[in-house]
Amino acid sequence: MSGLILAIETSCDETAVAVVEEGRRIVANVVASQVALHADTGGIVPEVAARAHLRWMLPVLEEARSRASIERWAGLEAIAVTEGPGLAGSLLVGITMAKSLAWVTDLPLVPVNHLEGHIYAAWLHDRGEPAPHEPEFPLVAMVVSGGHTFLVEMRHHLDYRLLGQTVDDAAGEAFDKVGRMLGLTYPGGPAIMRAASGATRRDRRFPRAWLGDSDDFSFSGLKTAARRAVNAELGQSEGGREEPEGGRLPQESVAELAWAFQDSVVEVLATKTLRAAERSQARTIVLGGGVAANAVLRQRLADGAAARGIPLVVPRPALCTDNAAMIGAAAWHRLQAGARAGTDLDARPSLKLVV
Ligand code: KG4
Ligand code: ZN
Repeated sequence: MSGLILAIETSCDETAVAVVEEGRRIVANVVASQVALHADTGGIVPEVAARAHLRWMLPVLEEARSRASIERWAGLEAIAVTEGPGLAGSLLVGITMAKSLAWVTDLPLVPVNHLEGHIYAAWLHDRGEPAPHEPEFPLVAMVVSGGHTFLVEMRHHLDYRLLGQTVDDAAGEAFDKVGRMLGLTYPGGPAIMRAASGATRRDRRFPRAWLGDSDDFSFSGLKTAARRAVNAELGQSEGGREEPEGGRLPQESVAELAWAFQDSVVEVLATKTLRAAERSQARTIVLGGGVAANAVLRQRLADGAAARGIPLVVPRPALCTDNAAMIGAAAWHRLQAGARAGTDLDARPSLKLVV
């Protein structure tokens, strides 16, 4: 058995194919990003995303095959694909490709939950590089992406207990919306991080939603506070429902507001994760999802985890944002557990990690 899984991920706006060995070693990892395509509309238009997947699916597959030096598909052990959650039209492109490949090769087809993939990115490393610290159970994992924000406890592989989740917006969604208010480019997360790093005044304070001792999150109040602050800077009525035109703000104000917003999100995310890890007596903290690419969040969690003596595993930024290697990592454990999809595999746009 080769231990090689070919994984496909098309749930949102990245067309991605990877080859991963035994759930850990990345043999090839190709991602075609649609970011530039969606920048004009300031967000994703689902049909545009689906058509872009259709355009790039085969070239990305071919590139991954060439980088992995796979001459015959038979060298693989399974085909894995994201079945959800995500945009239906986008998911269907990857699922159709994976089904066709499994059908012509007679290889098992393994369906993977995208959110499980974000957690399993913590096990990945490049083939040929030394393996990093392997996450140990029990662990606490926080996933912070464009569509999801939650904390889970894992006592074994593929075993999740939900500790808390957002009651309104996902953290990445808040970054994207506030980025738009500030007149920054899509996606808002990296743009806010860049703008915030240029702030000279760092004394503005936006609210933090602690929600008592719970492990739940809320970002809608923070979004409202940001909208009020932008409107106040622009001299508009605070009750205005219109999205403010952040493009008219002076650069220094944008930087200050970006800093204050990021400071609030990062403090809440890091504090709640560390608190949950202590309570669960976690032997590792895992961080994943696009917002985990944020350097300030990574640093804050690294400091907090080090102070408590808990090892922290955060994948490199390119493995935090959407990619197919993470799907291949999770698929390895699903394959061992006997997960198989038939030719009736369908997209599951609202799939949950824990029901
Ligand atoms: O996991 P991901 O690539 O896609 C989803 O599954 O949603 O996450 C995308 C999200 C976007 O909201 C984006 O703004 C955010 O991750 N993001 C960041 C950073 N890089 C990406 N947020 C904060 N700081 C970053 N550096
Ligand atoms: Zn994602």
